[in-house]
Amino acid sequence: MNRRYRKTIIAGNWKMNKTASDTKKFAEELKPILPRAKWCEVVVCVPFVNIPIALKAFKDLRVSVGAENLYYEPSGAYTGEVSADMLKDLGVKYVIIGHSERRQYFGETDITVNKKVHAALEAGLHPIICVGESLEQREMGVTMELIALQVKSALANVAPEKVRKCVIAYEPIWAIGTGRTATAEQAAEVCTAIRATIRTLYGARVARSITIQYGGSMNPKNAEELLAQPDVDGGLIGGAALKADQFVDIINAANQEQ
Ligand code: 13P
Repeated sequence: MNRRYRKTIIAGNWKMNKTASDTKKFAEELKPILPRAKWCEVVVCVPFVNIPIALKAFKDLRVSVGAENLYYEPSGAYTGEVSADMLKDLGVKYVIIGHSERRQYFGETDITVNKKVHAALEAGLHPIICVGESLEQREMGVTMELIALQVKSALANVAPEKVRKCVIAYEPIWAIGTGRTATAEQAAEVCTAIRATIRTLYGARVARSITIQYGGSMNPKNAEELLAQPDVDGGLIGGAALKADQFVDIINAANQEQ
């Protein structure tokens, strides 16, 4: 973390978990244990149908609400899809784009990710852009090239004043939901390389202002060490974000005065 230049953001990604009633219950559990003074921004990204109830339940806790996806067209005959404007109009602040599960199961590509990033920015949402390599790619030694390509493609034709609104989440696929976390060194190495890629595209001032998160089996035990890396500015958390006490432990790890 380096709060002098950029925000620390702890975001939960609920994926396809929790009903509307579970959402309310989670907010009630969070209320008494959430730290009052927050040096970091706290976000929960929830399934579309839970967004209205989450906005209501988390409002007084100063927890922002995010979506897990959107469709890039502004409106029209796209049965089952949700636009950026629909999310913005509800009061959503963040939206996860290009999560590896969407790339793997729902055909997302670097091209659709770029279109979604543009749609989110156009509507005034903050995209949380996910990038990450598979185990095979890591073992082939192509991680750095691959991540740079994902970052460059996601940000293609994004203006410098807009890129500041983006968050990048480095999520190695082999660490997601596996309990196998990247070491702090591995996370730091890639997050630093992501910042270097942004520096070549947009210059040093923009690069140092961007929040870069780590995601992949982040939990109360490993959060502090990961967040101690200067280029790791927060976490995108799956499993551990579903339990209020574990989520708060991670928030506390990020909530250190610097
Ligand atoms: P886990 O924390 O469950 O590994 O999930 C990480 C993730 O995919 C967050 O987007």
